[in-house]
Amino acid sequence: MVYKLLFVLFIVHNTNAASQIPKLKLNDGNEMPVIALGTWLGNSTKSTPDEVEQAVRWALDAGYNHIDTAWIYKVEDQVGKGLKGVPREKVFVTTKLWNSFHARDAVIPALRESLHNLQLDYVDLYLIHWPVGQFANFTYDQTDYLETWRGMIEAKKLGLTKSIGLSNFNEKMIERILENGLEKPAALQVEINLNLQQPELLAYCKSQNIVVMGYTPFGSLFYSKAKPDSPPPRVDDPALVTIAEKYKKTVPQITLRYLVELGVVPLPKSLTKSRIQQNIDIFDFQLTDDDKTILKSFDKGYRTIPQYKWLDHPYYPFEKKLNN
Ligand SMILES: NC(=O)c1ccc[n+]([C@@H]2O[C@H](COP(=O)([O-])OP(=O)(O)OC[C@H]3O[C@@H](n4cnc5c(N)ncnc54)[C@H](OP(=O)(O)O)[C@@H]3O)[C@@H](O)[C@H]2O)c1
Ligand SMILES: *[C@@H]1O[C@H](CO)[C@@H](O)[C@H](O)[C@H]1NC(C)=O
Ligand SMILES: *[C@@H]1O[C@H](CO)[C@@H](O)[C@H](O)[C@H]1NC(C)=O
Repeated sequence: MVYKLLFVLFIVHNTNAASQIPKLKLNDGNEMPVIALGTWLGNSTKSTPDEVEQAVRWALDAGYNHIDTAWIYKVEDQVGKGLKGVPREKVFVTTKLWNSFHARDAVIPALRESLHNLQLDYVDLYLIHWPVGQFANFTYDQTDYLETWRGMIEAKKLGLTKSIGLSNFNEKMIERILENGLEKPAALQVEINLNLQQPELLAYCKSQNIVVMGYTPFGSLFYSKAKPDSPPPRVDDPALVTIAEKYKKTVPQITLRYLVELGVVPLPKSLTKSRIQQNIDIFDFQLTDDDKTILKSFDKGYRTIPQYKWLDHPYYPFEKKLNN
């Protein structure tokens, strides 16, 4: 009896989220935890001095061991403060090179600035944020992204980042990097959510052993964020609610679990403690094929972040058709 009780206590004690978060092997030998806290506060939001720092602390307490940030989010310093006291090897940190640093010799100084902001000696993953180069005065920098990628390779050689990858690149662009004999990206970060599941791109990345990280994982789920013309589902969609109730989970949790089961690393952003905790509590159930058929049916190829303002850049990465 006593033994049984001790055993149960042992299990409960060791069943915190961190010990349950699986990792994906990257093509360079490193490993990435399958979910991360997002830290983008949205377009023009002005961050209070410590809201992201607090969110990072809550996330670490809840068991997250992967934080996604970027130089352009202007919160790397807060992420760094939030990470204070955590053994470096216990956390995977992703950040990104902004469009204004696409010249080959601008990459390493840009990464050093990010490391300074983060108060780290290295990041685990450095991504080219967009293939689209821009000067500080917002005119286009047409630097070939192959040059930018060469700068990324040099940054990795210096040990400033363990892995390198891309964000918002399309399949042809990745192919062009490979055709030129350059190092293969370890990861591709793109928008993935119920409205934009990108099955062809996922299949391509799988065939190349490139891990896909899914940004804006909730898409248009929340009324507060959804554009009026964006396709369903919303968070109260009856089919999704039925699935959620079956597992005693929430619809956001079902969405995140679906992405994980697709092999995608979702990057849910939240500044709310309870939601931060909720979003990582997805590793104690599994969706059925029927569930996944329903979830797949919401894929309408609808992009939340098309960045049409860059439509005329030679390296605009997405389909040039308007939504709807
Ligand atoms: N590479 C790129 O170009 C790129 C582009 C966009 C995003 N990203 C990355 O991806 C991350 C996530 O994308 P995102 O920030 O666009 O959107 P998102 O994570 O899909 O949605 C964030 C919104 O959902 C709310 N929320 C989170 N969890 C919730 C829950 N369980 N229930 C109800 N509401 C919930 C948040 O509210 P509260 O915060 O108020 O809780 C916030 O308003 C970003 O933070 C960033 O790290 C990368
Ligand atoms: C922010 O949003 C405004 C209007 O919603 C838009 O005009 C502007 O281009 C956006 N800026 C960035 C940096 O995305
Ligand atoms: C913008 O900046 C770039 C790089 O410094 C420069 O070559 C270009 O002339 C500038 N354009 C304008 C319109 O100021």
